[in-house]
Amino acid sequence: MSGHRDQTTQLAFGIDIGGSGIKGAPVDLATGTFAQDRTRIPTPAPSTPQAVAAVLADLIGGYHLPDDVPVGVAFPAPMQHGVVRSIANLDASWTGVDLPALVERATGRHAVAVNDADAAGVGELRYGAARQSDGVVLLTTLGTGIGSALFVDGRLVPNTELGHLEIDGHDAESRAADSARERENLSWDAWAQRLQRYFGVVEDLLSPDLIVIGGGVSKHHEKYLPLLHLRAPVVPAQLRNAAGIVGAASLAADA
Ligand code: BGC
Repeated sequence: MSGHRDQTTQLAFGIDIGGSGIKGAPVDLATGTFAQDRTRIPTPAPSTPQAVAAVLADLIGGYHLPDDVPVGVAFPAPMQHGVVRSIANLDASWTGVDLPALVERATGRHAVAVNDADAAGVGELRYGAARQSDGVVLLTTLGTGIGSALFVDGRLVPNTELGHLEIDGHDAESRAADSARERENLSWDAWAQRLQRYFGVVEDLLSPDLIVIGGGVSKHHEKYLPLLHLRAPVVPAQLRNAAGIVGAASLAADA
């Protein structure tokens, strides 16, 4: 992760593809902030690669950026060298797709693609809540699913997929993601108990030095983080929902 950043590239376009929305903005890499307002387009249904590629082309085209501005995509699946390994929350036809190649065909721009939680983790590590944190840092995103990003002394261990740990006989994200809270109409208290069980298991496995909680629900952190009792400090993401966009853009500029 500590590769040399191209000092002349000050702008990259970041995109975060989610189960309900596709969000993107040009990112100022000096500050890790949006250079222009973010655009959000509902995820097409069915969310096939072709349909999503058309949305990406529209989204980026709306900004009229110079041709050499690269694109970084945060995608909600394990991504091995840009290729989707398996997919839980979008159309099944994504498995095996080379996402950077798809984006390059659709937009004519150089592209990189990484797992969405990994992108958010990079955003928080470079610009947010985990800046300059050494040791074992775990970022989890609580949204439609649970995403995880694991760093050791600032280096990413990609595709940890800790949202799919089997806990008490369940795929963990089916019980503890924010979508479970909404689906089951759980109180903050009841949801916090599920988070406690989830993070208790994760903490016993990995002994993180710092846990960062991201995803849209991180803006309500005061409702549930104080109810958690873990050994590691648990802090909300500073970039909130922007972390994936910012991290993906930052990685695109590295490449
Ligand atoms: C996927 C992960 C993703 C997470 C958050 C999970 O269902 O398997 O790859 O990071 O959802 O979107």
